[in-house]
Amino acid sequence: MQNDKEYVDRAVEQFRTLLEQQIAREDKMKMGSDATDFSQKQTITIGVIPGDGIGPVIVREAKKILNILLKAEIESGSIVLKDIDGLTIENRLACGKSVPEEVLDAIKSCDVLLKGPTETPKGGTMESANVTLRRELDLYSNVRPVSLPEGGIDWTFFRENTEGEYVLGSRGVEIPGKLAMDFKVTTDSGTRRIARAAFEFARNNGKKHVSIVTKANIMKKTDGKFSEICHEVAEDYPEITVEDYYIDIMTAKLINNNERSRFKVFVLPNLYGDIITDEAAQIQGGVGTAGSANTGDKYAMFEAVHGTAPQLIRDGLGDYANPLSIIKASEMLLRHIGYTDQADTLAAAIGNVGNTDGMKAEEIADRIIEMI
Ligand code: IPM
Ligand code: MG
Repeated sequence: MQNDKEYVDRAVEQFRTLLEQQIAREDKMKMGSDATDFSQKQTITIGVIPGDGIGPVIVREAKKILNILLKAEIESGSIVLKDIDGLTIENRLACGKSVPEEVLDAIKSCDVLLKGPTETPKGGTMESANVTLRRELDLYSNVRPVSLPEGGIDWTFFRENTEGEYVLGSRGVEIPGKLAMDFKVTTDSGTRRIARAAFEFARNNGKKHVSIVTKANIMKKTDGKFSEICHEVAEDYPEITVEDYYIDIMTAKLINNNERSRFKVFVLPNLYGDIITDEAAQIQGGVGTAGSANTGDKYAMFEAVHGTAPQLIRDGLGDYANPLSIIKASEMLLRHIGYTDQADTLAAAIGNVGNTDGMKAEEIADRIIEMI
């Protein structure tokens, strides 16, 4: 049995290490890196990761679509679709690693990834595979578009993807029977690069409005910094208006029909981005309908917004998982690597898919394939 003092001494020591590591991470980030120019690559390797739960079902369908849209490039060798095994909850638990070494090596041999949802064990110390991959591949920008044309909604969320509550989420402190403490980290460089990504997107896509969403009235240091740095970056984009909102009122505004269509681009810290993009996806038609891009300067990973839906699997309904989210992610992947025509073709087919209630994943994908 340890006494309080021992816990405190250990925690203080740990805190020193964490601080030093985070300063080192910030120093490295500050140096920046060049973005991959896909037009200069002879071969683009797309890693395909099925994941857990409904993952294998929906990824199979998305892969079928990519194989069709990229047939010529795959035949000529300019695109390689590479299956990546081993990112399953069973293998991860067996190896005791959120992303086993050899899986990470295989992933790093690709340029971009299409990834099914992976299970995250609750509690314990195993980190979510998503969090590990976002960190290891430095995928700092989580872009989640949501559109509902009939409701005048055209939103793009830029969620900071590598820090906030997530970066040390598995490294908190606990004094059993007394308290637990987690850490939230916001860095200058980490905020600057996500803000830059959001404002560049706004400028390049003719969006005139960016909303910075925080809880800076409570999280004064971290969210305060986030907002401040976003405003600093905004000075380079005088044609764009910027407004600050707190996350709680923003969740209300998103369901306010009189107001919501004026929002265009959102930039927000990791956890708020996680939460609000599920709400936004639901407004669009469900978490099964929104795609998600995790992009960094070197790698990018495209995935569904939703999780593994274990209840669907438990009920024997895995074949009925909605593949639209991962198919939209595939569209984002195509766009990211410069295959704009194929992305547009896929986007049009997704837009015309109509009501898919009660349909199997395979039937939904086949309906899309008929239109491409
Ligand atoms: C998401 C997911 C992940 C997250 C989980 C699976 C770790 O909810 O991509 O939004 O919290 O970021
Ligand atoms: Mg989420």
